[in-house]
Amino acid sequence: MPDIAIVPAPRELTVTEGQWISEDPAADAVRTVVENLGETEYRIDVTPDGARLSAGSEDALRHAETTYEQLLDAAVPAEDGKVAVPAVRIADAPRFGWRGMMLDVARHFMPKDFVLKVLDVIALHRLNVLHLHLTDDQGWRVQIDAYPRLTEIGAWRDQSMVGKMTHHQTEFEYDGQRHGGFYTKDDLREIVAYAAERGITVVPEIDLPGHMQAAIAAYPELGNFPDTQLGVRQIWGISDDVLNVNDETVEFVRTVLREVLEIFPSPYIHLGGDECPSVQWTEADAAQKRQAELGLTEAGQLQGWFTAQVAEVLAEEGRRLVGWDEMVETDCPKDAVIMAWRSAERGEIAVKAGHETVMAPCESVYFDYYQGDPKTEPLAIGNFIPLEKVYDFEVIPAGLSAEEEARIVGTQCQIWTEYMEGPEQVGYMLLPRLSAFAERAWGSPKTSYDEFLTRLRPHLARIEAIGVNYRPLD
Ligand code: ACM
Repeated sequence: MPDIAIVPAPRELTVTEGQWISEDPAADAVRTVVENLGETEYRIDVTPDGARLSAGSEDALRHAETTYEQLLDAAVPAEDGKVAVPAVRIADAPRFGWRGMMLDVARHFMPKDFVLKVLDVIALHRLNVLHLHLTDDQGWRVQIDAYPRLTEIGAWRDQSMVGKMTHHQTEFEYDGQRHGGFYTKDDLREIVAYAAERGITVVPEIDLPGHMQAAIAAYPELGNFPDTQLGVRQIWGISDDVLNVNDETVEFVRTVLREVLEIFPSPYIHLGGDECPSVQWTEADAAQKRQAELGLTEAGQLQGWFTAQVAEVLAEEGRRLVGWDEMVETDCPKDAVIMAWRSAERGEIAVKAGHETVMAPCESVYFDYYQGDPKTEPLAIGNFIPLEKVYDFEVIPAGLSAEEEARIVGTQCQIWTEYMEGPEQVGYMLLPRLSAFAERAWGSPKTSYDEFLTRLRPHLARIEAIGVNYRPLD
């Protein structure tokens, strides 16, 4: 049996008789897009006569190519400087259409070159979505021409808290280091183009109406108490400082979104919706007035109203709204795609409510959680998701009807960066957990964990070749 290590493993791989002796098997394989395969399907046939890659689309052919490159790592030297490629038959297609990774570039800014490397890692694993969390309380990372202070002020914080944030903590220690950065529109267009060449969609997130303190620091009139000048947030956790619900703020967000849509051709635009406290809306006169006008019984219902107002810009441009699972509780549009993060159960609730849903549950695919003993691991937000647990992740919760299951359009892993200062820390937390996640997202046959590790060990060299850090196997 040749040493074939393909990650994620193809759905069907059969080692057949013999081998193909070739001088240059990468160049000499025949590649074709064919009509008799589905759009996402591909086949690889290596026989003693040659290698053929066929696929139902250019995108699927790219997947064939990635798999074939990994197959060629199993080639062995043959006579006259040639190599022998094992004969195989591969029939493959992804189980899910949305195979994503979220990168939080707001809590800690990540350099553009690193984002490009992350795209290489995503492509290596035949994933197809990079969700960029571009804005949060601690930093605004996207250039917006109409509102330059978003990046002049909102992209920078004077210092960051040190150590682990705990519940009800009121005293903090700070590092005294200014931190920040942002992507220009050209940077983001470069990222989008680089992704597109690799069959990856970049989904931008502008998180609202909570997680907006950086924007309110830049433009105090967006806040509920504009006489208070806020700074960009220096501690982690959830801020009570959320957007006000005035007409001018709706217009502000619409303008921002129009610029965002110009940069990102993605059919999906993420408008956050998570962790939005409504305490300030109960206290601010303008929000109370708005609540009364709209006949809402609770201030929290203003979130759904606000999101619907700003999401009109998406509808005008034919884009789909994506939101975190809190959005299901806010009377959001039926065609919103829900990203279930608080638990798998939240995903069940979303599909039962009729939403297409991406499963991103924190108990399985939050890669900011510890992957080893907290005594020896770098500081992390908490909890415990070792590699094996990711490998065991079931994307589709048990007990759904076929119709409900069909609404689960895919899955996504998350890298929140409160406790990751830069690329080295992100790589360590991301990999190789992303490799295990990719198997579940692709729908690779589940093997024993040990068999997975046997394929994963040689795969680490491919990650190393991209130049991204990873956590060594235990
Ligand atoms: C989230 O983790 N607040 C989506």
